[in-house]
Amino acid sequence: MCGIVGYIGHREAYPIVIKGLQRLEYRGYDSAGVALYDGSNINLSKTQGKVEDLKNKAEKEISTKGNLGIGHTRWATHGVPNDVNSHPHYSNSGDLVIIHNGIIENYESIKQELLKRGYTFESDTDTEVLVNLIEEVKTKENVKLGKAVQLALNEVVGAYAIAVFDKQKPDEIVVAKLGSPLAIGVGENEFFIASDASPFIEFTNNAIYLQDEEMAIVRLGKEIKLRKIKDDAITYPNILELKMNIEEIEKGGYDHFMLKEIYEQPRAILDTYRGRLRTEQNLIKMDGIDQHLDRFLNANRIIIVACGTSWHAGLVAEYIFEDLARIPVEVEYASEFRYRNPVITDKDVLIAISQSGETADTLAAIKLAKENGAFVFGVCNVVGSSIARETDAGAYTHAGPEIGVASTKAFTTQITVLTLIALKLAKEKGTFSEERFQEYLAEMETIPEKVEKALESNPLIEIISEVYKDSTNALYLGRGYNFPVALEGALKLKEISYIHAEGYPAAEMKHGPIALIDEQMPVFVIATKLGHYEKVVSNIQEIKSRKGKIIAIVTEGDEQVTELADHVVEVPETFENLSPLLTTIPLQLLSYHIAVMRGCNVDQPRNLAKSVTVE
Ligand code: F6R
Repeated sequence: MCGIVGYIGHREAYPIVIKGLQRLEYRGYDSAGVALYDGSNINLSKTQGKVEDLKNKAEKEISTKGNLGIGHTRWATHGVPNDVNSHPHYSNSGDLVIIHNGIIENYESIKQELLKRGYTFESDTDTEVLVNLIEEVKTKENVKLGKAVQLALNEVVGAYAIAVFDKQKPDEIVVAKLGSPLAIGVGENEFFIASDASPFIEFTNNAIYLQDEEMAIVRLGKEIKLRKIKDDAITYPNILELKMNIEEIEKGGYDHFMLKEIYEQPRAILDTYRGRLRTEQNLIKMDGIDQHLDRFLNANRIIIVACGTSWHAGLVAEYIFEDLARIPVEVEYASEFRYRNPVITDKDVLIAISQSGETADTLAAIKLAKENGAFVFGVCNVVGSSIARETDAGAYTHAGPEIGVASTKAFTTQITVLTLIALKLAKEKGTFSEERFQEYLAEMETIPEKVEKALESNPLIEIISEVYKDSTNALYLGRGYNFPVALEGALKLKEISYIHAEGYPAAEMKHGPIALIDEQMPVFVIATKLGHYEKVVSNIQEIKSRKGKIIAIVTEGDEQVTELADHVVEVPETFENLSPLLTTIPLQLLSYHIAVMRGCNVDQPRNLAKSVTVE
């Protein structure tokens, strides 16, 4: 779960690598490093801390000249974050230098073997073991770097995206992938290597995404050939033309990516249903569903697997699938599902939800479901990601790149896609009338405008945030469709502001959490008009009589809850099943402002990473 970048060509490598690392910092940011070849020597600099710290250090301590360079931003797996454990790592001879994203599971036994042969190690990392294994194979077998990498990788167990070069042959970089993502940007006599395309998008739109167990030798003046790590089979790569542009991955005037992404939601939701929702024809067009309709219609049940925020989107989907399409649904944490020996049959449809498309547990759950004959459908944001490739079919959320570590627009666009699927299946199954379907499509089309309206409460939310920014705990309550929104609100607050928060179904409060309520406890309650309103009002009374502070998300024009609550934030009225798309907006803004007021790093909260490619 680190970010890797490399460059070889006619430009200066250092600025490309540093800028690329800054764009990949969402993948890990506890340490960073760079290695550059200046024509005769490798200049290496690395440090615990952010890419900015690396930049300050490198520009003081090394020559940053050269047309070949690799860089790394780390999220520690083996070895604490410190300067020595940071990448890149040298081999013992000092000729080879490597960057690695992933985990070598059998590194300890390989290390013992290498120690016996006289190798020494400076760091505690699995990566330093790997580069020395490559060196050992290269020397012992008397082979070139590419072959040595291949032979060494056949000895390791684990996951990797690596880039390695040899000081003795500085016209090439060898790359390989298993489990962690790796893209190669192909320019005019220059190549870029990165964990995703964002580091090279302003230089080239042509990219090759390595598949698992593939490697490549990226050599100046040569066409790239891909080689299977296991059996040496050679293939010519499929060069894709990327549609992404540079503006999409920059902050565009906002203080943080998270705020930019919150404000992008009207556009992101619209982009997600655009072309799919066809009001004039009264239908929803989704190729991934249309081509496999019988699998969905004949399914015994739908199993949804995901992690974190995507799992919350899955919970909203459970309500809407069962409510509208009358298909039984189970929602599982991917990490539990993959290890609990679940019953899976060929009559099951598994929907995997993932923003990054790289989450290791979700990928493993997909593989397990496929092995057992289930039909697997992916809902991903990152085009060409591992999950998008691994699934039988799928639908992209067109949210655009999400850089802030806390998921915002990914959540609402996931709900949008899942709602479209539920509506489509409901229509196909005839569980509701053509007229009702038409009303849903029309209502869906009002959502971007209603999200805009919900965003207008931002100044009020800033005032409310000021009141509660020093809280140590918070409770989030919701019922029905807004129970998952309560869970998501609590997750957003804890992950970026480090305030302990819990989400609960409102009626469950009296079975335990009510004991926590006193005058210090802010309770955020989603109390929209449709969806058990009167019941939620009773829950609010229970909080009030215990002196809890009530901050309620209500429907425009609400009177009853407004009377009772300490603060209310209004959202426009919509159908109950679409309400999470609106009620989640004030909660995202609230956690954002509280985190900023507490001086937290909103876009890169401690201990987290955007793409969790380790289990
Ligand atoms: C929370 C958050 C995480 C992710 C989770 C799954 O804001 O971003 O909880 O939702 O790590 O990631 P994806 O969706 O990429 O599989």
